[in-house]
Amino acid sequence: MEKAIIRQPIITVCGHVDHGKTSILDCLRDSCVQSGEKGGITQKISFTLYPTAQLKKACPIIDAKKIQIDIPGFLLIDTPGHAAFTNLRKRGGSLADLALVVIDINEGIKPQTAEVIQILKLNKVPFMIALNKIDNISGWRQHDKDLEKSIGLQPQNVKLVFEERYYTLIAALNSYGFEADLYFNITDFTKKVAMIPCSARTKEGIPELIMMLCGLSQKYLADKLALGKEAKGVILEIKKEKTTSYAESILYDGELSKTDEIAVADINGTPIITKIRVLEEIQPLCSSFKPKEKIRASTGFRMQLTEKIDVLPGMPFVAYHNNKEEIKKIFKKEILENVKTQERGIIAKADSLGSLEALLTLLEQTHIPVVKAGIGSINKSDIISAKANLEISEIDAVIVGFNVGVEEETIGFSAIKIFTEEVIYKLIEDLVEFREQKRKEIEKRRLMELSTICKLRILHQYVFRNTKPAIFGVKIEGGKLISNLPIINEQGKKVGRIKNIQSENKSVAEATEGMEVAISIPGENYERQLKSKTFLYSDFSEAQFKKFKKNKDLLSSKEISVLQEIAEIKRNEKADWGN
Ligand code: GTP
Ligand code: MG
Repeated sequence: MEKAIIRQPIITVCGHVDHGKTSILDCLRDSCVQSGEKGGITQKISFTLYPTAQLKKACPIIDAKKIQIDIPGFLLIDTPGHAAFTNLRKRGGSLADLALVVIDINEGIKPQTAEVIQILKLNKVPFMIALNKIDNISGWRQHDKDLEKSIGLQPQNVKLVFEERYYTLIAALNSYGFEADLYFNITDFTKKVAMIPCSARTKEGIPELIMMLCGLSQKYLADKLALGKEAKGVILEIKKEKTTSYAESILYDGELSKTDEIAVADINGTPIITKIRVLEEIQPLCSSFKPKEKIRASTGFRMQLTEKIDVLPGMPFVAYHNNKEEIKKIFKKEILENVKTQERGIIAKADSLGSLEALLTLLEQTHIPVVKAGIGSINKSDIISAKANLEISEIDAVIVGFNVGVEEETIGFSAIKIFTEEVIYKLIEDLVEFREQKRKEIEKRRLMELSTICKLRILHQYVFRNTKPAIFGVKIEGGKLISNLPIINEQGKKVGRIKNIQSENKSVAEATEGMEVAISIPGENYERQLKSKTFLYSDFSEAQFKKFKKNKDLLSSKEISVLQEIAEIKRNEKADWGN
């Protein structure tokens, strides 16, 4: 049988801003991209073809121990410390075969690290962790070329700090559902996430990191790495250079010739058939491109197409052989598979297909339904959809935007809650909190529909009319006053119903704790019935009282104490009232 050709494993390097992703890649490549970056920050996804020869050079143990390397190197992908890496997608998951999550050992898991880990988990991408910047641990020195030995030789106080940091990390990873340990403590790498301490500055631990990448790729990814026949890829970005524009892309399977025709998914997922005018592959270990007749996965490349296509980052392409209908189905599945919506729910927007998919998956996991999902900034049509929700379910009158802005035309629709965030899990957290609050608010409104808890202090210095109706000032000591509320006095005697509430000479429907208002009660005589009293209370039935008691968690502590006072007044008349 013909031996399958093995392609390069695609390894995504991801993690929090400034934790050292680019620096680690620089170490591997013997390059210095990091210092040439604008503000030292990676702005977009970039790729490096990393051949076996370099692998051996950066990791002398391979030759020294005569370890056999079957893979033709790696395709390494550097990502910015924000969410754009969700574009590294393909049908059914992630483009990455393996991920290297970089964590600054002195900082631990930060929001973006958490997000990255969640997305890797979602897409079932195996990963390992580079515990970077060990040189920043006070007193740390490289005592031996071998990392495990060097760790063992650290002075006791240094070792204690180191251990405390990685134990904290192990616990944090545990909370995300992962077992993790230092790489030399692990026997079964399919069960535990390996952590490799390292320093991109001193290069300590970098050979071990490469060893682990090789070992894991060869041992656990072998069958995933067999090269397929069909060219399959993803466009990462359209880059304009003067008058021409290039589609920077990754070929993750098969071979692609310059003479091939390809089908690219446009913004709507429709296949557009196009020829390739220019095909240029990335050169090993650097960021320049070279014209090629044919390229083979896994590789990074750029192409100029003969057709003008409106593409989004993250959109797929495949080789075309007069099979447009078939491709239509493939794209439809590939693109819309994860963009499912329900009959009711919130509105979700994101900046690209990959990030929208990640957002929708997380929302689904959190059991938050989505009625409308789309790519692009939040616009008037989204607001109109959210507004329609107001009538059906207030809780769904929400728009969430992941990595997108809000268009100006939407200003002035205050009833609609809009959440925008660049960190996906923060977005979900805010949304969950909002929904919980809203739910309580709605339940409370329902509970208070028929009656309300209220305690009033009579302001005897403000008596405006003695009777028919009696009009006088009150201060709301607790709860809420609404018109038409039946009232009792301190002895439990019925006083009448409140007819009108006035605040600063205007009629109002309700008054809340702390407010001073004037109220009118027909059929009451101030001099005779109220002058000697201090407090008045809202009146309600025993059944209503029990309902309040049952929903105590919706009430404020003040409302609970007023409720108790009212129950006591009632018990003076009937001892077991409300029990
Ligand atoms: P973004 O691309 O912005 O997300 O950052 P990044 O994760 O690529 O980090 P980068 O490699 O740009 O490093 C950030 C800063 O940390 C730089 O100033 C590096 O010099 C420094 N740095 C990286 N690795 C190490 C290390 O191992 N030790 C020390 N002391 N500093 C490091
Ligand atoms: Mg970087």
